[in-house]
Parts: sequence; C-alpha cells; structure tokens
Amino acid sequence: MSLLKIVNLTKKFDDVVAVDGIDLDVADGEFVTLLGPSGCGKTTTLRTIAGFYYPDGGEVYFGDTLVNNVPPNRRNTAMCFQSYALFPHMSVWDNICFGLKMQKIPVDQQKQRVSKVLEMMGLQRLENRKPGQLSGGQQQRVALARAIVTEPEILLFDEPLSNLDAKLRVQVRVEIREMQKRLGITTIYVTHDQDEALAISDRIVVMNDGRIEQIGNPYEIYRNPLTSFVAGFIGLANIFEGTIVKRENTRYTVEAPFGTVVIDGEGKAEPDSSGTLKFSWRPEEMKVRADNGVNRIRGTILHTVFMGNTTDLFFEVNGFRMRAQTDEVDVVRSGDTIEFTVPENAFSILRG
Ligand SMILES: Nc1ncnc2c1ncn2[C@@H]1O[C@H](COP(=O)(O)OP(=O)(O)O)[C@@H](O)[C@H]1O
Ligand SMILES: [Mg+2]
Repeated sequence: MSLLKIVNLTKKFDDVVAVDGIDLDVADGEFVTLLGPSGCGKTTTLRTIAGFYYPDGGEVYFGDTLVNNVPPNRRNTAMCFQSYALFPHMSVWDNICFGLKMQKIPVDQQKQRVSKVLEMMGLQRLENRKPGQLSGGQQQRVALARAIVTEPEILLFDEPLSNLDAKLRVQVRVEIREMQKRLGITTIYVTHDQDEALAISDRIVVMNDGRIEQIGNPYEIYRNPLTSFVAGFIGLANIFEGTIVKRENTRYTVEAPFGTVVIDGEGKAEPDSSGTLKFSWRPEEMKVRADNGVNRIRGTILHTVFMGNTTDLFFEVNGFRMRAQTDEVDVVRSGDTIEFTVPENAFSILRG
C-alpha cells in the first residue's frame, strides 16, 4: 500500500488553477521530488499535502485514511523551507526542542531526542548558539534537525537549499539524502533545480502548468523524456519533428528538416498515427569523427564554449541549429565543418 496517495488533486486560487488534476502514489520510505519551473504548482501541491490548503477537487490519502479535511497539526508531517523559519531569539537546542514541547513529550524524552538529532546533524557544539550566530549551512541543518526530531511520517521540503551557495548546496543535499536513507522517512522534496532533482531522488515528478508531464526515476527522466517539455527542462536536448518514411518494427527512418535519421525506438514511446514523429537526443550523444557510425550529421560550427571537462559546440545543419558536447575538440574552430554521428538508440520519441 502507498504511504501517500493523491488522486485527481485540484487546487484553485480564484480563477488561477494552480494544481490541475494530478495523481501520485508515494511508497513508504521513498524520496520523491516535484520538479518544474516557477509557478507550475509545486508549493501548492506540497502545502496541500501538509494540510495548509484544502483541495478544491480530488483526494489526499495518508495510508488508507482520507485526510482532505484533516488540519496540518494532525497530519504528522514536518516541513523545511528555504528561509529556515528558525526562531531568532531561541538557542539551537530550544529551536529543535520546540515541536516536542508543543506535542507535550515528557522532558526526559525531549532531551534524549534532541541530543540524538544534534549528534546526527553534527550540531553538538552549537546547541547554545542563536540562529544569527550560525552560517547558512548550519541554519539549514538546524531547520532539518527541527523537522526530523518530531519523527514525522512524511518530511516535506520546499526549495530548502536556495539560500545557499553552489558548493554548500551540493554538500547539504548529500546530507539530506543520507539522513533520509538512514531514517527511512518518506520525503517529498520541491525544487526547480534539475541537477538537484537528478542527484537526490528515487523518483522525479516533472510538473508544468499545474499538471504532471512525467514521473520516473532520474535515469528514465534523463534518458527517456516523453515530452518536449521534459526533454528541454532536464538537461540539454536537440528537439526536432520529422516524417516517418519507413518503418521496420520499432526502427524508424525519419525525414527531418536537417536530414534523414534512423531511430531505434525499442523501449521508447510509440509514435502516434499521424506519420510525423517528434524526437530528441542529448548533445553528449553526438560523436565526433566516429569511423563507422550511422546517422551522419554534417554541420558548420557557430561557436564553442569550453566548460572544463567538456566543450559545448553550437553548430548549424542546413540552417537548423543544434548543440553537441564533446571532450575531443582541440582543433575545432568557429566556421569549421564537422561531421557527427548519433547512435540509433540515442533518440527519445516524444508524445507532445
Ligand atoms: N496564495 C495564492 N493566491 C493566489 N495565487 C496563488 C497563491 N499561491 C500560488 N498561486 C498561484 O498558483 C500558481 C502555482 O503557484 P506555486 O504552487 O507557488 O508554484 P511553484 O511553487 O511551482 O513556483 C501560480 O500561478 C501562482 O501565482
Ligand atoms: Mg514554490
């Protein structure tokens, strides 16, 4: 049985449909990320799970209990925000202990649980400090400690790392994931950062305009996007549409604006019956100077961007722009003509 089940959930603010009929099942102990651009309905979904908003349509279940009208304080969830929401006048210890006091947990148990969480988060020596005397990363750790000390059934995160610099963001996200795995707490995590979502999640729910575009594990979402929105939002993608001129089982020959390609659609989406096929591939799938590769694409380099471990190549084929990524371009200059190959199985077939 799923620990959290959302069925056809809809939430409106006046005439704005913030969440438009979404379905989601979350298993016990799973780490699920809601990923999408600003305004797509992530926070609204999270706050509806927490009980801060009541749905306009659909159902939210914790286990087999319908919680649509259960107030937040009776849902056994805990929420972590980017703004930390720590009490500035209270010590680290008192901030973490606050929820336990509210729940009227016996004092000796309060002490035991706070000490344990302080140790787990590496905050032992900071317990007497006020939030203002802590770095951003330490404050985020206190906020996390305060959330997990109440032993919630579901842990909710709303863009918890947005206030941290890039290095710290990576460090704290690893800590969050390790802590979540160790405790086995079911977690719903909201972010607009695709790298964060790929790195941290068991499954990613890609949202767009109040709807779910795709649900899958990070590998599936990256390797096999099902819509042009997902292909374009997660990682970089070349996206084109062409006419199917030949089909052998799941192998399609497609006449695209830039030329003809052969696509191995095994394990990919089935194209619709229109005869046109929308497809994408990742820049890093383009091989430079492969001797016997298929799908040869010959283009003119517009410009190159050195990225350290790789180089981005922007080029043009018959007037159409594409990008490639490669680590062997020491001799490539703008204006050069270059030939790439793309493996037949490197393409995703898109539904929309
Ligand atoms: N309290 C509110 N009142 C009115 N409109 C809101 C409110 N909260 C969110 N919205 C609108 O609902 C949509 C989804 O918002 P939100 O869930 O905050 O998106 P996200 O967290 O993905 O950025 C947006 O169009 C936003 O403007
Ligand atoms: Mg938000």
